[in-house]
Amino acid sequence: MPDSVSPFTLIDVPGGAPLFGHLGEFKKRPLETMSRWWRRYGDALRFRLGPKTLHLFSHPDLAEEILVQQADRFVKVYDPQRPTGLSLVLGNGLVTSSGEVWKRHRRIIQPIFHRSRMAAMADRMAQVGEQRIAGWVDHEGQSVDIATEMMQLALEVISQTMFTTSMAQHIEHISRALRVSLKYAFDSFHNPLRLPMWVPTHRNREFRSVMQFMDGLIYGLLAERRQSGAQHGDLLDLLLQARDEETGIGLSDQELRDEALTIFAAGHETTANALDWTWYLLASHPEAKARFHEEVDRVLQGRTPNADDLQHLPYTRAIFDESLRLYPPAPAVQRKAATNVTVGGLPLPAGALVLVGTHNLHRHPAFWPNSDQFLPERWLNSERPAARCAYLPFGAGPRACVGIHFASVEGPLLLALIGRRYDLELAQETVESELMVTLRPKGGIRMILNPRKVPVESNA
Ligand code: HEM
Repeated sequence: MPDSVSPFTLIDVPGGAPLFGHLGEFKKRPLETMSRWWRRYGDALRFRLGPKTLHLFSHPDLAEEILVQQADRFVKVYDPQRPTGLSLVLGNGLVTSSGEVWKRHRRIIQPIFHRSRMAAMADRMAQVGEQRIAGWVDHEGQSVDIATEMMQLALEVISQTMFTTSMAQHIEHISRALRVSLKYAFDSFHNPLRLPMWVPTHRNREFRSVMQFMDGLIYGLLAERRQSGAQHGDLLDLLLQARDEETGIGLSDQELRDEALTIFAAGHETTANALDWTWYLLASHPEAKARFHEEVDRVLQGRTPNADDLQHLPYTRAIFDESLRLYPPAPAVQRKAATNVTVGGLPLPAGALVLVGTHNLHRHPAFWPNSDQFLPERWLNSERPAARCAYLPFGAGPRACVGIHFASVEGPLLLALIGRRYDLELAQETVESELMVTLRPKGGIRMILNPRKVPVESNA
């Protein structure tokens, strides 16, 4: 085969309307639509959302080219001068920035996530976990919204580990602020008719008001730390102490706000969603749940888990990995071609918008046997696909998740901690997913908190 022949064919998704393209279909159920198109038309697709043309790539080789091999040519889509999508909320923080600013800030932030810090972080995570589930005693035998519980738990974990502070008293306000702002940001991505932010519509006013609240909270944190001068060796210290190597100048208030809010939001939303889906999967797979409880009881013997326990909890880890496969909290990764490029031999013009379809990759039947089934065992039996980018819950390449080790400790640790005390039973018939930047269970998941009849050591 000559070099110029691509093994991939770019298919135009049929049925686009003249002005709006595929917007109507996409907007209603973005994730299901992308999944249906992929199953029907293949791994390399082109579609239109109003004036924007997008490419959806759902093959590991294409993902690897975009995120790893040609990472310098496929850049983030955000423009700090004209914020849209996530940058409306996070400003120019680590998720949304690019170029030299991103490089420098990643260098500042990365050390906080070093493996050597994870044991201490795990102890703090466990402490927070025990504190929060202590409040569940009053709801035993009753149904609660597990999505709210996991969001609040993950939020408190990130506040305590990164900012050495408790957000417990603001938790409901913050959860709402993030829900409203992320929905606003996500809608701005695919709504060509959106009115500019200065127009006083209800949604614009609501967005501005929740952002004011979040800004107040973050600036308050920064001011408090500056005033007290306390040293905690946490993220806040690192950000406040950072100095430019050449100029010696520290981060501006705006930069500090953007980075702190980015870690705050990116560091709990995704983990909470991953935990929600894991509880849902366990509740609907009784055999896996029984094996999970057996492992947790045997290894922990009633203790609170710590970082060392994780290596003895392979099935718990496998459950978390399998849940991230079926319900990746970030189900698609977006990039823009910085120049004319080719991907898998397919030419794309400069400016082309690209989605790497993580959710599709994770269910690709050519790489995952029984791809739609929840089979944690596949992670124990070395059945992982050889293709490097067939599994991308944390992305890949230079822009891969900075919190990957943190989340890989936090997820299984909190599962074990909760699973040792509770058996979570589904209290609703169906659970629908909703894509709102991250993949959430729509309207939450009601579950009954059944206390487990296992001997519990009183070390909590
Ligand atoms: C299960 C949990 C998590 C999942 C599934 C997840 C997923 C991801 C993914 C897919 C990306 C790459 C996005 C892209 O390439 O455009 C990313 C980036 C990022 N994540 Fe996570 N994440 C998780 C937890 C965390 C945690 C705990 C933190 C912080 C404490 C965090 C902070 C970040 C940041 C700052 C970035 C941007 C990195 C950069 O561009 O340099 N994430 N995450």
